[in-house]
Amino acid sequence: MRRPLIVGNWKMYKTPAEAAAFVTQLREVTAAVQDVEIVVAPSFPALLPVRDLLAGSAIGLAAQNMHWEPEGAFTGEVAPPMLTDAGCRYVILGHSERRQYFGENDAFVNRKVRAALEHGLIPIVCVGESLAEREAGLTEKVVTSQVEQCLAGLAGDAVANLVIAYEPVWAIGTGRTASPADAQEVNARIRELVRDLFGADAADRVRILYGGSVKPDNTRELISRPDIDGALVGGASLQVESFTGIIRACEEAGKR
Ligand code: PGA
Repeated sequence: MRRPLIVGNWKMYKTPAEAAAFVTQLREVTAAVQDVEIVVAPSFPALLPVRDLLAGSAIGLAAQNMHWEPEGAFTGEVAPPMLTDAGCRYVILGHSERRQYFGENDAFVNRKVRAALEHGLIPIVCVGESLAEREAGLTEKVVTSQVEQCLAGLAGDAVANLVIAYEPVWAIGTGRTASPADAQEVNARIRELVRDLFGADAADRVRILYGGSVKPDNTRELISRPDIDGALVGGASLQVESFTGIIRACEEAGKR
């Protein structure tokens, strides 16, 4: 019922030319994939060439960040209509690197989520605890508060259509993955919370991804858990081979 989703977050990697070469190849090797939705999130300058190369393909485009205003004097920022115009269907919001290095907090993320929805973009809302928080037994508390605040004020049908990514900060780029059981536990908790706050339909339809050192060889075990609807992939999305390995493992998990 929930279509599995694999998102490649390229972070600050790949020039427009490198991104173009990547998607040309990706498009070819994934042409037969049907049961997994594939999305790539290039840097801003690479969005336009990638959009053009993906025209007519099922691979979707995401931005990695966005401002909440539709335009204005905000040097260095990019507005929602600029992203829709550049072919984006999704936008990653509240990634832990944005929170850690650029001072984004849940209130910022909430404004961005609302703005994305107003402009027809699907937010991929990132939440997750730090290592210190996990070790102090605060995972559930931290993630609950992030979800509550990031989604504050939204209607149930808006929540049903968005994507939440649970990414424990200690698992991002470290090679340490949350165990499938731990990831499932947090994702199930998030779905329960969505049920309490936004109703059963939103909980059944919202896609909740896992992210943090996802690789071809740990994908299947993660994705086959009932509340893990896909993956947000950093490092392993940078090579066509490992990214398609993840897509194939997701297909093999056969959830649909
Ligand atoms: P990683 O990054 O796969 O390199 O751990 C995940 C992310 O930051 O979204």
